[in-house]
Amino acid sequence: MRHTIPYSFKKLEPSDLDRLCSYLEKLGPETRRRFGPHGFDRNSLENLFIHQQEFLGYVATNDENNEIIAYCVLKKGYLEHDSFRFHSYGLTLDHATDCTFAPSVAEEWQGKGVGGELTNFIIGDLKEMGFRRILLWGGVQSDNHQALRYYEKLGFRRLGQFEYFGMNDDMCLDMFHE
Ligand SMILES: CC(C)(COP(=O)(O)OP(=O)(O)OC[C@H]1O[C@@H](n2cnc3c(N)ncnc32)[C@H](O)[C@@H]1OP(=O)(O)O)[C@@H](O)C(=O)NCCC(=O)NCCS
Repeated sequence: MRHTIPYSFKKLEPSDLDRLCSYLEKLGPETRRRFGPHGFDRNSLENLFIHQQEFLGYVATNDENNEIIAYCVLKKGYLEHDSFRFHSYGLTLDHATDCTFAPSVAEEWQGKGVGGELTNFIIGDLKEMGFRRILLWGGVQSDNHQALRYYEKLGFRRLGQFEYFGMNDDMCLDMFHE
């Protein structure tokens, strides 16, 4: 069932970092097992979003209490250490038009549409910035059926599998510009 509590989406700003720390601290073990693109401490977040230019964050906020309920991180371009796999699938990578994506939703909000809506909001912004393709950050664990269905519903396609602490799927979304 969809939540009746109102929520809204926005690009992360430096003033959101305290709220983002609280959100990440509260994530449960099941979500942490699936989502861990970077450290969850304040220094790691400042390093990404204040001291570097190539990372973007997006959040969904519960409008009733201002708490963050979902967070996605993007890197402009691709991760060098994943690039050999994408090349092996026949992709030609480009830092100017590819970006790399990792999503998370607070447990109590999962499966209620927030992740899909936030991702569609992000896709609109990425298109405006000139990006043409989204690559998954380190792939998705092949037993993460919830995430696989969410990605496929958004139009991501499976590229191939690789082993890293179990099997994982590389996926990408080609964003078409009207
Ligand atoms: C994966 C994740 C970001 C998806 O966000 P979400 O808000 O839960 O997903 P949505 O509610 O928008 O669901 C989109 C689709 O995903 C699928 N889905 C969502 N929850 C599901 C569940 N519990 N079981 C099976 N499929 C599910 C459904 O197809 C759903 O569409 P539908 O409800 O219209 O049928 C979120 O569940 C999450 O944070 N999971 C833990 C961290 C994680 O796995 N991150 C990805 C790492 S690669």
